[in-house]
Parts: sequence; structure tokens; C-alpha cells
Amino acid sequence: MRKIIFLFLPMMALMAAPSAYDQGKKLYFAKGCNGCHGVSAGGTNIYPALAYRRKAFLVYRLKQLRSKQGNTQLAPMMIPFAMALTDTQIDALTTFLSDYHENTKEKYTPDDSNTGDGSS
Ligand code: HEC
Repeated sequence: MRKIIFLFLPMMALMAAPSAYDQGKKLYFAKGCNGCHGVSAGGTNIYPALAYRRKAFLVYRLKQLRSKQGNTQLAPMMIPFAMALTDTQIDALTTFLSDYHENTKEKYTPDDSNTGDGSS
């Protein structure tokens, strides 16, 4: 009986809170990730695509960049954004990205996603 309760309580907590996917989606736009990686996370010109990629890879990369260890020419652009993320936010964002299932027609249209989105 005890075991059942221990399994059940965390499940209830998960159901009450917004899903990690939804939190990640919100963060993706709130943190401006869409400005470079595109509204559908499909990447725009030099910015890598993020949607559908393995969660473990995305977590690894974000934590690496957060600790300023990108060591590519493009990394300095990404580092400040990674540094603004907590572990919880990285978890939510990477759940959203790896599990990506938005109903959008704009998937992978690299040409138009870096205009008019607030990027300078
Ligand atoms: C100013 C533009 C810009 C913004 C805004 C930005 N990124 Fe990036 N991001 C980059 C660039 C450039 C790279 C490539 C870095 C490299 O190659 O080392 C990158 C790389 C990444 C990678 C690694 C992908 C790979 O293929 O290695 C992840 C994951 C990522 N960004 C997630 C995010 C998230 C999540 C946000 C929002 C919090 C965000 N980015 C905001 C420019 C940006």
C-alpha cells in the first residue's frame, strides 16, 4: 500500500503542474530562442535546428555552452542565452525540443524566420 502511495503522489504533482513540454514551449519564446533558431526550431541559416533532436544531446550542449565551453566560432553568440538558463529550464526546453509536435506549416523554412521577429 505504501509503495502505491509513493508512486501516486509524484504522479499527481506532475498532473497538476503544466507539463514540461508546455513550460519549455513558453520558455523557448520568452527567452528569445526563436529569434535565432526559428519559430519552429528548425534552424535559420547559420543557427542549428533544435527540434526532434535527442534530449541528451541538447542538455549536454546547453550545459556545455552555459559553462562557456562552446569553443566554436559561433559559440559566443549562444553562450549568454545558455547562461541565463537554470537546470529546470534546460530540462523543460529540451523536452519541448526533442519531443517537438507543434502543428505548424512553418517547419524547416529557413529563409523567412529571421525577419520581423525582433532580431536586430
Ligand atoms: C543570438 C542567437 C541565438 C539565440 C537567441 C539562441 N541561440 Fe542557441 N545557438 C546559437 C548559435 C550561433 C549556436 C551554435 C553554437 C556553436 O556552434 O557552438 C547555438 C547552439 C544551440 C544549441 C546546440 C545545438 C547544436 O547543434 O550543437 C542549443 C541546444 C541551443 N542553441 C539552444 C538554444 C536555446 C534553448 C535558446 C533560448 C534559450 C537559444 N539557443 C537561443 C544562437 C542562438
